[in-house]
Amino acid sequence: MQLLAQHDLSTLNTLGLKSTAELYTELHSIIDVHALLKDEPLKKITWRILGGGSNLVLPAKVGGLTIRLANKGRELVHEDESAWFVKAQAGEIWNDFVRWTLDMGFWGLENLSLIPGTVGASPIQNIGAYGVEVKDSIFEVTCVELATGELKSFSNSECRFSYRDSFFKQEGAGKYLIWEVTFRLPKQGKLNLEYGDVRKELERQGLEANPRNISKVVCEIRSSKLPDPEVIGNAGSFFKNPIVPVAVRDQLIQKYPTLVSFPYADGKVKLAAGWLIDQAGWKGKQIGPVGMFEKQALVLVNHGGANADDVWTTATQVCADVKARFGVELEPEPIRW
Ligand code: EPU
Repeated sequence: MQLLAQHDLSTLNTLGLKSTAELYTELHSIIDVHALLKDEPLKKITWRILGGGSNLVLPAKVGGLTIRLANKGRELVHEDESAWFVKAQAGEIWNDFVRWTLDMGFWGLENLSLIPGTVGASPIQNIGAYGVEVKDSIFEVTCVELATGELKSFSNSECRFSYRDSFFKQEGAGKYLIWEVTFRLPKQGKLNLEYGDVRKELERQGLEANPRNISKVVCEIRSSKLPDPEVIGNAGSFFKNPIVPVAVRDQLIQKYPTLVSFPYADGKVKLAAGWLIDQAGWKGKQIGPVGMFEKQALVLVNHGGANADDVWTTATQVCADVKARFGVELEPEPIRW
């Protein structure tokens, strides 16, 4: 385990914010984890865990120790009549893992193609796209409990998943290091074609509805709307789609007939935050180096040289404008260190 001081994190967060870690290390194996947990001076300082850095707003200086998970590996661990059970290490790049499952002939993750980040980060905010959430496929999440160094597995229900949320983002935050994730991919999986333009795009290209083709069109749709973090810094959707009572939506729609909403549960609906932000005049608009993307208003972008204060200045103004116009509160999706 190598310990680095004043380590630059600018290339380790997809927003591309200028940030320096007071101390930094990468964990490649469980031996590294145990070495870290035995280090008495290090145990006294604050630890923060970095995955792919795709859902984070980093301050200019990150005190304490920043730990990056770099453990790799993926394998079929079990198979029965109904499903494949596939295990992947936390440091695997999410999209490489999805591509591998498709190459192996497994189904279930195709709608989640091209999401940035790592396997270990995927359960934390229950990543989701095109009608699928990762919770639909997670069998268990195995973590190192930081207080004891012991491995602990969480079943799907123990992870307490909900829309862009989980136990690991709430009560479990800072207590566990997600080490590996086991997925259950059903052999009689159902293809999800209903969300967004997936079915339309398959039909337009004359492609059969199968997992590989779904992955292909999802990648194309995402690339056409979402900026590539390699080219322009961003953290995907910056706000969650707000969940409101049906009555609130019904009232809003009388005034704004083109309002977009999606069914949720328990008499609630999700409003399309991208639509609200767009209508509030923020699509393509910026304050200083930070703005909302010109092709998808839900994505906050760093046009270059931004820091966390610049991000929050723009984000706060977007929230205020949406609230003033529609009376709806927006909640940021990325985690703020
Ligand atoms: N819209 C606008 N203007 C915009 C953006 C969107 O009017 O500038 C409208 C669209 O026309 C559409 C609706 O808003 O009718 C929803 O837009 P879209 O289908 O692009 O999806 P989204 O709700 O904006 C969510 C996820 C994305 C995911 C897509 C596709 C959240 C916060 N975001 O976005 O996830 O890729 O659906 O499933 O739930 C992410 O979390 O980082 C992410 C990219």
